[in-house]
Amino acid sequence: MPRTCPDKLNVLLLGGGGREHAIGWKLRQSPRLGELWVESSANAGLKQIGQVCPESIDAKNLFHTQKWCDRQSIDMIVVGPEAPLVDGLAEKLASDHRVVFGPSMAAARLEGDKSYAKEVMRQGAVATADGKTFTDAEHARSHVTARDEPCVVKAAGLAAGKGVVVCNDATEAVAAIDMIMEDRTFGEAGNSIVIEERLEGQELSVLALVDGHTISVLDPAQDHKQVGEGDTGPNTGGMGAYCPTPLATREVMDLVHSEILVPTIDGLRRDGIVYRGVLYAGLMLTAAGPKVLEFNCRFGDPECQPLMMRFKGDLAHVLWATATGTLIDTSIEFDPRHACCVVVCSEGYPGPYPKGVPITGIEEAIETAGTDEQVEVFHAGTTIDEKGRLVTSGGRVLGVTAMAEDLQRAQELANRAASCIKFEGAFHRRDIGHRVMGPLSNLSGA
Ligand code: AMP
Ligand code: GLY
Repeated sequence: MPRTCPDKLNVLLLGGGGREHAIGWKLRQSPRLGELWVESSANAGLKQIGQVCPESIDAKNLFHTQKWCDRQSIDMIVVGPEAPLVDGLAEKLASDHRVVFGPSMAAARLEGDKSYAKEVMRQGAVATADGKTFTDAEHARSHVTARDEPCVVKAAGLAAGKGVVVCNDATEAVAAIDMIMEDRTFGEAGNSIVIEERLEGQELSVLALVDGHTISVLDPAQDHKQVGEGDTGPNTGGMGAYCPTPLATREVMDLVHSEILVPTIDGLRRDGIVYRGVLYAGLMLTAAGPKVLEFNCRFGDPECQPLMMRFKGDLAHVLWATATGTLIDTSIEFDPRHACCVVVCSEGYPGPYPKGVPITGIEEAIETAGTDEQVEVFHAGTTIDEKGRLVTSGGRVLGVTAMAEDLQRAQELANRAASCIKFEGAFHRRDIGHRVMGPLSNLSGA
């Protein structure tokens, strides 16, 4: 693996969502960036900031991908989503003259296999919900029926963020077990399940860059997963996020560092696994302290959007340093202002929704920012149709992200900007950040 960061880096960015648009947007500001190639030919925002790679990049097309990367002198590949990492694409695409940002297959198992993650946590005495793994539906049903208490049923494998059911009692838990193990709603991801105690508290996302040894903890964020204001309705991929969050006091962050991140990385290292990439700890702040709900091996979406907005410095260099084990020489700084991302969604999301609906108002949204403020609109589910119009192509369409002096102003600005975005059936939550700012009555009516 090359170790000295080139003065000009040609980068290939994999993934096609709002997270990747935010990463690409920040990479574009790097003085070291040479060519930026993007994988997705669909996301209209990514297409504006990078050239579209003609190859389909997956483990099946490895030979052509490697050849193409060689021809284009790609110096660094940044992998946005988890699936290619869990499939081992990171080590397959790395070479003597190319680095890949993202953990190896063995390290990404921390996200790809929830029962493995539980085992790593158990060995490292990392606080997490008590849980048990089942490969047999009958045993799982007996377990929940015997207890009849609130619990959480999780498909152990990757299920695109949908494989978790929070249950109030045994009846709901049995229905979740049947959905995952008998109806096989998530396919092989449901071959085994983890059933765990239901924790109460505020959720917190702590993301860290890890280069194998050095752990650089990024500013903490909070995601809002439920579709409705006041945290009501079904879970989604994330309706908005803000950063930093006052929930993560210095004491909490110290605990997360020393009792969660360090023992997890050390535990992997003892098993011969070097973790290089982002380690995302999804936490519940319980009365007994922070406990891990899940680990992810990539940036959160939408947490990445406010994080990138506040990130100061040269992202290309920082990602390179993470991938090459040289993070210790690299300082990471964030803008002291607060960022709030509001996701504008298609009507019906997280259920079925229409596609191909024309979108307007992005320029107007960006222009709502006042002095010392900033608004960016990150594309997630958008594309350009055959008539050349910007149209919807997903449930989460745009991540309207505002940065301002405090969280209240960042939320107001993000809401005002989000209401400039017009497409039929568009909706967004107006209360991103409410868990630290008070109830909906504080809203400015945007
Ligand atoms: P996960 O994909 O494991 O983060 O789970 C998705 C969501 O389910 C989390 O963001 C929480 O809102 C909820 N959840 C997961 N595990 C638990 C748990 N043990 N107790 C309560 N809620 C949970
Ligand atoms: N925001 C939740 C996730 O990225 O998993």
